[in-house]
Amino acid sequence: MLYQQINGLLNPNEPTVTNLSNVVAALKQTFEKISWVGFYLSKEEMLYLGPFQGKVACTRIKFGNGVCGTSALKKETQVVPNVHEYPGHIACDVETNSEIVIPIIFNNNVYGVLDLDSTQFSAFDETDKIWLEKICELIANKLELKSFLI
Ligand code: SME
Repeated sequence: MLYQQINGLLNPNEPTVTNLSNVVAALKQTFEKISWVGFYLSKEEMLYLGPFQGKVACTRIKFGNGVCGTSALKKETQVVPNVHEYPGHIACDVETNSEIVIPIIFNNNVYGVLDLDSTQFSAFDETDKIWLEKICELIANKLELKSFLI
């Protein structure tokens, strides 16, 4: 299954960009409903675009802005069934209709977020939230997190 596959892919001896690149590929090839998946990595209350698959995206998001910035600031997963009803949503791709963003937290610090978008409405449910949070926890625990910082 996906969790075990990602556990196998993560290698703390490889650079962070290498590990995260394969995580986004594993997610993208597993779920047809994903139109965009990627990481934003944090430095000084700013999120910077990291490894992703999908269309060209915005390069930086301030903590507190959009779905990603809200997740980073609140240290909470954001499940958005309809992005058009989310105040402050940052539209990178006009075809996106729903989104989930999971923070990557270690020792109470936010190292980044994992963002998944879909052209379907309500594409992500409670089961996705639970497993994606487990995957982000695995990433946080397995990788050398100081190397997340740009
Ligand atoms: N929609 C996100 C921005 C990132 S893109 O979807 C890739 C947001 O509101 O934070």
